[in-house]
Amino acid sequence: MRIAITGARGQLGRQLMAAFAGHELWGLDLPEEDITQPAMSGRLAAWRPDLVLHAAAYTDVDGCERDPELAFRVNAVGTQHVALAAQQVGAAMLYISTNEVFDGTRRDLYREWDQLSPMSIYARSKAAGEQIVRDLLAGRFYIVRIAWLFGPGGNNFVTKILAAAEKTAALRVAADEFGNPTYAADLAAAIGRLVATGHFGIYHLTNTGFCSRYEFAREIMRLAGRPDLPITPILSAEWPRPSRPPLHAVLANTAAASLGIVLRSWQDALADYMAAGLSNSPGSPGSLCSL
Ligand SMILES: NC(=O)c1ccc[n+]([C@@H]2O[C@H](COP(=O)([O-])OP(=O)(O)OC[C@H]3O[C@@H](n4cnc5c(N)ncnc54)[C@H](OP(=O)(O)O)[C@@H]3O)[C@@H](O)[C@H]2O)c1
Repeated sequence: MRIAITGARGQLGRQLMAAFAGHELWGLDLPEEDITQPAMSGRLAAWRPDLVLHAAAYTDVDGCERDPELAFRVNAVGTQHVALAAQQVGAAMLYISTNEVFDGTRRDLYREWDQLSPMSIYARSKAAGEQIVRDLLAGRFYIVRIAWLFGPGGNNFVTKILAAAEKTAALRVAADEFGNPTYAADLAAAIGRLVATGHFGIYHLTNTGFCSRYEFAREIMRLAGRPDLPITPILSAEWPRPSRPPLHAVLANTAAASLGIVLRSWQDALADYMAAGLSNSPGSPGSLCSL
C-alpha cells in the first residue's frame, strides 16, 4: 500500500513511520510540507496514496488559546486540505483526534459515539477536523481519539515530570484531572491492526486503564527509582494556564475492542518506555505536546 503520514516527525508520526515501514511511505512534515498550504493538497493527491494517516496538528494547547487563528488554520483548514486530497484520489483517511473533544464533566467514561462537547480552542479545532473528515470522506475514514500521549523524542508529561524532579525537591501535580496515558509505540501498532481490518469508523485507542495526573506522576517517579519524592496533590485550577483542561475526559475503547484490538495497561507501557530511556527512536524532538 502507498501510505502518506502527516506529522511524520512528531511524537506519534515517527512511531507510525516505524509501524508501517513495510509499506511504501511518504512522511510529510514541516518545514518541507505545510498542511495549511493548498498546494500541499495537490502534491498529496498527485502522489496517489491508498491511505492517509493524518497525525499533524498544532498540539500546544495553551498556544492554541493564545492564537486561535493558527489553531484553526492548522487543525481545521489543514485537515481539510489533507481530506480533500484523499477524497480526490479515493484514498481512505485516518484522523487522529483527542479526548479533549469531550468536556470531561461526566464521571462516566466517554464512548466513541458520545456527543462532542469541546471546551478549549484546541479541542474545538480538533472537533472541527473530525467534522471535516466525516463530511469529505463519507464512509472511508477512521477517526481515532487518543489521550495523554508519551513516546520517544516527545516533550510529554513523563519528560516534564522527570525534568521538574531534577530541578525541585517536591512536585505539585493535579489530582482532579483524569485521562488515559497512551504510549505512542503501542498506539501506532494498534492503528496498524485497525486499518488492516478495513472497518471504518470512530475509535478510542489508548492504553488500558486511566488515572489522575497525580497518580501518573507517582508512577513515573516510582519507575525512576525515586518513590519518596514528595508530590503534593493539588487542584488543576491551582495551576494557572491559558487553557482549561477537561477534568474527566476518560475514553472507553468499545469499537476497537470488538475487533480484538485492546492495548496493554498504561503502567506496563510506561515501564517499557522508561526502561528504553525515553529517546530510543530516530528523529528530532517533537514540539510541545498537549498535557
Ligand atoms: N500529545 C498528546 O498528548 C495528544 C493527545 C491527544 C491527541 N493528540 C493528537 O495526536 C496527534 C499527534 O500528536 P503528537 O503528540 O505526536 O504531536 P507532535 O509531536 O506535536 O507532532 C505533530 C507534528 O505535526 C507537525 N505540524 C504542525 N503543524 C504543521 C503544519 N502546518 N504542516 C505540517 N506539519 C505540521 C509538527 O511539526 P512541528 O513540530 O515543526 O510544529 C509535528 O511534527 C495530533 O493530531 C494531536 O492533536 C495528541
